[in-house]
Amino acid sequence: MTAEAPRARKVYVEAFGCQMNVLDGELALSRLASKGWERTEDAEAAELILFNTCSVRDQSEHRVWSRLGALRERKRTDPSLLIGVMGCMAQREAESILRRMPHVDIVCGTRRFPVMDALVERARAEGQVLAVETDGYVDVRRDVRIRPQRHRAFVSVMRGCDHKCSYCIVPRTRGPQIDRSLEDVAEEVRRLADDGVREVTLLGQNINTYGRTLDAGPDGRRPTLATLIRAVDRVPGIERIRFLTSNPMDLREDLLEAMGELPRACGYLHFPAQSGSDAVLRRMRRGYTRDRYLELCARARELCPGIELATDLIVGFPGETEEEYLATRTLVEQVGFKQIYVFKYSPRPGTAASDLADDVPEAEKKRRNNDLLDLQDEIALRRNSAFAGRRIEVLVDGPSEKDASRLAGLEDGHRTVIFEGPAELSGRFVQVDVERATAPALYGRLVAGSER
Ligand code: SAH
Ligand code: F3S
Repeated sequence: MTAEAPRARKVYVEAFGCQMNVLDGELALSRLASKGWERTEDAEAAELILFNTCSVRDQSEHRVWSRLGALRERKRTDPSLLIGVMGCMAQREAESILRRMPHVDIVCGTRRFPVMDALVERARAEGQVLAVETDGYVDVRRDVRIRPQRHRAFVSVMRGCDHKCSYCIVPRTRGPQIDRSLEDVAEEVRRLADDGVREVTLLGQNINTYGRTLDAGPDGRRPTLATLIRAVDRVPGIERIRFLTSNPMDLREDLLEAMGELPRACGYLHFPAQSGSDAVLRRMRRGYTRDRYLELCARARELCPGIELATDLIVGFPGETEEEYLATRTLVEQVGFKQIYVFKYSPRPGTAASDLADDVPEAEKKRRNNDLLDLQDEIALRRNSAFAGRRIEVLVDGPSEKDASRLAGLEDGHRTVIFEGPAELSGRFVQVDVERATAPALYGRLVAGSER
């Protein structure tokens, strides 16, 4: 009789906020897995609970405080439970988390998660652990086999941000920009591709400045996002390349040229405008004007025909008048985004804007928020409806969340596409004939035998 394998210890990881947090959670998990931990979706069954937190808005932090509070009783009855807080809020609040929530065992800042396995061992042996140092290199190498989706993966290419947009906490929580070498990124993508990944999304807080902190290569030039995408494009097996996010201030023409040239670079650009008013953009210290933004949108469409644009917008920034708000509204009308992400301004301690009076009433922020979303719904429906009757290629994710008898996937421009088909098509590319559209999705019929 063979000895029974030791029972894997179970870890529950939950990410709040951006894609970078989702990825950092996976990277921490990859380290833990090498020490025998196994992911569970059931927090009740876990011996270790990790929250990967966001500080971008006050509300994001509130949610975590209340989730942590709710664990107090469980920790009392089960002292062997370990609770860890990682990410931006861990970096920002640091000791105060351990003070306010003495049942928390680990506070791990934005640059310390690659040693999560060691932090967990220390917490077991010594009690509360605070690890929020920001110096030194962040080693994000990972076991590429550990990832939630087989065919799609995120890859971290840079961390931190050197800008000082007046509302933004990220430069404080994530620190200054550091880039990963082009060879490192390409090597990770190669290993992911060898393990079945077909679509990669390169991640950075301000990915357009990728390369700024690197040395020049043999050709005497520093790598840029464009050269990185060209390198990833040469990796056999990778069929789609995406990246997030791009400050318009740093968008370079060579990137648009690469996107236009390379069929594997997806025709999708997430490109946060934040506002359509020059006065507000100035107060935000964004470094571009409305006209410049519109010019870049036009240039993107010229160099990459069919490209889809998505944006982030903040409503109710300090002093935002009705007229200034309407400038954002007309920007949304004028550009015709595929998608917009709208945020109600939330003052963040220590940012330049937090010195300005947060003078747009909450009800007014809400009205502007909903007004933009209603407008975008009409635009998205109109733009999506233009797909009816077209045949498009879809990378299948698997059964649709809302209706498991149908499949869901993404087309090149990042639209969700829903259709009937067998679950075995998950991870494959298929052709779909689009029949109808709603604002959030396209619906269609699978072209039989089209999978590859
Ligand atoms: N790196 C990205 C932004 C990261 S934060 C960029 O360069 O644009 C993600 C989004 O959150 C931002 O685009 C912004 O729209 C929103 N956001 C950031 N700080 C905010 C704040 N204090 N209040 C409301 N929304 C905010
Ligand atoms: Fe934030 Fe501006 Fe950088 S929004 S992440 S400071 S580009």
